[in-house]
Amino acid sequence: MKEFKKKVLVTSALIYANNSVHIGHLLENTQTDIYVRFLKLRGHDAFYCGAEDTHGAPIEISAAKQGVTPEQFIAKWAKEHEEDYKRYLIDYDSYYTTHSPENRHYTEFIFKRLQDAGHIYTKDIELTYCENCKRYLPDRYVKGTCPKCGAKDQYGDVCEKCGAAYSTIDLVEPYCSICGSKPIRRPSRHYFFRLNDFSDKLRAWLNSNKNLQPEIRNQILSWVDQGLQDWCISRDGPYFGFKIPGEENKYFYVWLDAPIGYMASTAHYCKGKNFTAEDIWLGEDSTIVHVIGKDIIYFHLLFWPAVLMGSGFHVPDNIVVHGFLNVNGEKMSKSRGTFLTGREFADLLDPELLRYFYAANLGHSMTDIDLDLKTLQDKVNNELVSNIANLVYRTLSFLDKNFDSTVSTTLNKELLADVAKKAEGVSDSYYDYNFREAVAKTLEISTLGNRYFQDNQPWELVKTDKEKAQRVLTDCVNIVKTVAILMKPITPVFAAKVEEQLGLTALKWADVDSVVENHKIAGAKIILRKIDPIVLKKHGEAKQEEKNEEKPTKPTGAAALDLHVAVVTEVNDHPQADKLYVLKIDLGSEQRQLCAGLKPYYPKEELLGKHLVVVTNLKSAKLRGELSQGMLLAADSGSVVGVLNASDSPAGTQVTAEGISGKGAPQIEIGDIAALTLEAKAGKAYVNGKLLGTEKGPVKVDKGIEGKIR
Ligand code: 2FM
Ligand code: ZN
Repeated sequence: MKEFKKKVLVTSALIYANNSVHIGHLLENTQTDIYVRFLKLRGHDAFYCGAEDTHGAPIEISAAKQGVTPEQFIAKWAKEHEEDYKRYLIDYDSYYTTHSPENRHYTEFIFKRLQDAGHIYTKDIELTYCENCKRYLPDRYVKGTCPKCGAKDQYGDVCEKCGAAYSTIDLVEPYCSICGSKPIRRPSRHYFFRLNDFSDKLRAWLNSNKNLQPEIRNQILSWVDQGLQDWCISRDGPYFGFKIPGEENKYFYVWLDAPIGYMASTAHYCKGKNFTAEDIWLGEDSTIVHVIGKDIIYFHLLFWPAVLMGSGFHVPDNIVVHGFLNVNGEKMSKSRGTFLTGREFADLLDPELLRYFYAANLGHSMTDIDLDLKTLQDKVNNELVSNIANLVYRTLSFLDKNFDSTVSTTLNKELLADVAKKAEGVSDSYYDYNFREAVAKTLEISTLGNRYFQDNQPWELVKTDKEKAQRVLTDCVNIVKTVAILMKPITPVFAAKVEEQLGLTALKWADVDSVVENHKIAGAKIILRKIDPIVLKKHGEAKQEEKNEEKPTKPTGAAALDLHVAVVTEVNDHPQADKLYVLKIDLGSEQRQLCAGLKPYYPKEELLGKHLVVVTNLKSAKLRGELSQGMLLAADSGSVVGVLNASDSPAGTQVTAEGISGKGAPQIEIGDIAALTLEAKAGKAYVNGKLLGTEKGPVKVDKGIEGKIR
């Protein structure tokens, strides 16, 4: 793409404010950053805007679990992300947040415009609701058995076993993945965007926009042809986001306000400048380019343009889509040690070298990129170090030694004209987002320089024709200068060091055509050296090396549960939840607090002094603001609940399943418990078919209840 309006806005997808920047994110940030740096170098008025994607249920839930406000939670992540971007030389012109007044303004404004134009309606829908957590459960917060293939513990949107897509209410035996209890179906009124009404406009836009990658255009057109579903753009509270004006407890869905965050970040950038975000987003004198991964094309090539069309804004001029990142030929994986955060990778390698590798692999395509660590080492060593950095050092150090660091006049005008022509080819490749080709063409130029140096043998020539030798070196310096310019978007620090040694600063693309003559350079220093093989640590390996212990294997079945007898010492009402008690329990060696949904089934007096069975290695959580350190086991018939009772055993006694003990088992999550079969039959309790008991005999089930144990 070479046609640009006056101002060029470029964005990367907004990272969620609840996870670290990983090397997959950095592929996209590097791609965008290289492009913007290139445009600026070519003299375009380009700017790079991004933000933290801060809204949604997961952020609200994670913040509550940590006992902090969502605002505090997102601020912590923003700080970490900004540090990481800096480390990888990702140079945002505006880095903002979707939780900003500007974003609220644009979101409400767009919503109103859509509403006024009749593009929004409301409808009652059935959703999954947890009465214990007092919240509607989003897809990822309800698990259960797949309605299609019967696989257990599947999320509420899609089955990982058979791939079936469904909604949360279709799950068989659903459970809330926050508290483990059984959710109910509950209706709620929601706002819908008439996406389907935009089918023709979207089709026309997709067909007329010549910048889009053909494979993307075809993919999206086929979705449009299959028929588009209207889009639910509201969510019930509790939710972290912007409340819908006039509503009590309804919020804009995060995916509505996230792309609007591009606008808010533009507004942030425009502060104090002589143009506004409206000039960019409403006017026709700007070019808007989004860079995204192929996992979010539905949002960016259907919802987003339709929302912009419906509200009268400027539709993106280009949406550049990249593929996924694999490592060593496979999907990134925690257990293989290949799911690396930016920080972890920076401990292994200079971040700029990863930028080089990404650039050398990025084309204008959705093909996945393989970060093969051996190839990375070879590329850095054979291309960046042995070719480019070698040309720089051999040229400048020869000048230092033989000519007092001074260049004279050029000798081979033809060669330099050829280099300038080739550099224009590099520019074309950058404009086409074909950085792989830009790198290959730059390496060709550098190879040319190395060959010219070699062929002229200046170390011999200096003995016979010193003046000519200096002119040969002057040609080489000019090639070094051009290579430094071409590398600036990809390896800005390396390029800046070359500039500094050349005694030149702030080179622009136009300087490809300027000739360096009669000039004293600052002097040569080695900038890059070959790198060693990169060795990844497998998950858990670091610990193993330090302690030289057996690699721990995660216990399964009953051995995953560290069960103890707990005596109830205090029972209080939960201040925020009608059905919960807050219990104080004695575990022999320690006292803990538990939240339990027993209020409808037990008066307080009946629980006091009871010897319950508690999972002590469950990760602590806050349930509606109250700390819960473990989970007591109780059988549920569907209408009545009875706790497990070990009245003969003292506080702290280990509870086992036919001799299988989870003593000292590592911490588990609620989903790990839900993955086991816990049942009550004939007054006894079983884990995966094994009878629960202490030395004193089997554990009893209060009221003889039969059913699932939760
Ligand atoms: O998929 C994601 O990670 C989203 N946070 C991307 C949002 S991009 C834009 F729409 F804001
Ligand atoms: Zn719940």
